[in-house]
Amino acid sequence: MTAATATTADTFRPALHYAARNTWLNDPNGLIFHGGVYHLYYQNNPLDSVWGNMSWGHATSTDLLTWTEHPVAIACDEEEDIFSGSIVFDRDNTSGFGTGAAPPLVAVYTSAFKPGSAHGGLQAQSLAYSLDSGYTWTKHTANPVLNRGSAEFRDPKVIRYDGAAGSYWVMVAVEAQDFQVVLYRSDDLRDWEYLSTFGPANATGGVWECPDLFPLPLDGDPANLKWVLTVNLNPGGPNMGSAGQYFVGDFDGTTFASATTVTEGLQDPDRLGEYQWLDWGRDYYAAVSFSDAPDDRRLMIAWMNNWEYANQIPTTPWRSPMTLAREISLHTIHGRPRLVQRAAGDFAALPEAGPAFSLTDTAIANGTHILEGAAGSVQRIDITLTPGTAEEFGLVVRGDGARGTRIGIRPAEGTLLIDRRDSGDTDFHESFPSIDSAPVLATEATYDLTVYVDRCSVEVFAQGGQVTMTELIFPADTSTDVAVYATGGTATINRLEITQFG
Ligand code: FRU
Repeated sequence: MTAATATTADTFRPALHYAARNTWLNDPNGLIFHGGVYHLYYQNNPLDSVWGNMSWGHATSTDLLTWTEHPVAIACDEEEDIFSGSIVFDRDNTSGFGTGAAPPLVAVYTSAFKPGSAHGGLQAQSLAYSLDSGYTWTKHTANPVLNRGSAEFRDPKVIRYDGAAGSYWVMVAVEAQDFQVVLYRSDDLRDWEYLSTFGPANATGGVWECPDLFPLPLDGDPANLKWVLTVNLNPGGPNMGSAGQYFVGDFDGTTFASATTVTEGLQDPDRLGEYQWLDWGRDYYAAVSFSDAPDDRRLMIAWMNNWEYANQIPTTPWRSPMTLAREISLHTIHGRPRLVQRAAGDFAALPEAGPAFSLTDTAIANGTHILEGAAGSVQRIDITLTPGTAEEFGLVVRGDGARGTRIGIRPAEGTLLIDRRDSGDTDFHESFPSIDSAPVLATEATYDLTVYVDRCSVEVFAQGGQVTMTELIFPADTSTDVAVYATGGTATINRLEITQFG
């Protein structure tokens, strides 16, 4: 089958998020900043808008908001599908794929071997290299380079470890069905030596996929470096389906020791809410971070979809956007090390597409109140709210008067919620219409939300990014109202600013 062609207006195409022109995508792969450009490779079906023919697509950006699509970087063939993985800049040419003067980029990906191929049915790790800064790729002739004889060994993320134990490449990958992250080391990216295994721990409600391992200073103190291990799982997320969890601890060059494990072994279903989640929404999966991001920033992108309904979302001729790139930092919050996230793109350089809207110190009476002059479908909303007598209060975005997507706070419950039951087209899958929640606590009696609305999505950063929720929505393009609401009483807007981007 060839790529679908547009039959209806492409009203869901995001303005600030990447989506392929007319094909399917899932996980971000090989994220790297190189040659002054952010490279986003991704699981791509070059021939269709549903999963299949897995290859690495490619896009680049300089502002992390606007992207240019390039030809497929690494294509599947009769032997293998090209599953998820990562890219490193091999600056000392340890692999020998380049030269000292012209070192290579090396992609480490999972070969998902097809039935009848040399390793039929197995998943093993393979290499490809680029000598033109990431635009064209050559598969290594001696693939795979790491084969455990497993059918579920995938998603290698390679980092450069420089620490007390030495200086070498470290790979984290998963044994997906065993809920394990396995660690290996190498000097040349070709020969890999087993180091250790982490897991099962905390959430194990579904297969473990797409791990990452990176250091971050705690509370901005470079002398207090912690290591963060992220691992995505599907299903088993806090609001059903795909999601990503993380652990904080130490890495000594061999073993990751978690200081935030709540449950060892298989999950205790009653403790799902105690685990640490990269995002509490339904549509934030396969998150991984960039290699070599400028200024040591830790930047992550996730796939903005959920395997429960991924192949059915009503976008055409493309299917699935990526999330915004997020900058991740680590802070002590309520006595625990927690990731804090904010959107990383260069928003200041974007042309504003309409007058900004702002309000201060305004009471919200019981009910829903459309804000005249605030409408839009590509916008950032910054709001700080103080509870009054209302049991719930917040925003309605992409509304049409009666319906819309509700983003609210229930202070007595201590929850942030997204209600997308009335968000537009919801009936393409029975599990899509949902009301989802995350735990959130007031800071000095107030709640602040930054919400990015972009045609088919809302990304909510609450309490300065301590809690995030990301969800797809499919409203009519005429549904652009923004409203504030309070249920069963009142609340106060301390500050509201809306910036239009499109
Ligand atoms: C995660 C995942 C990965 C795999 C890829 C295949 O969404 O299942 O584990 O490498 O997608 O497309």
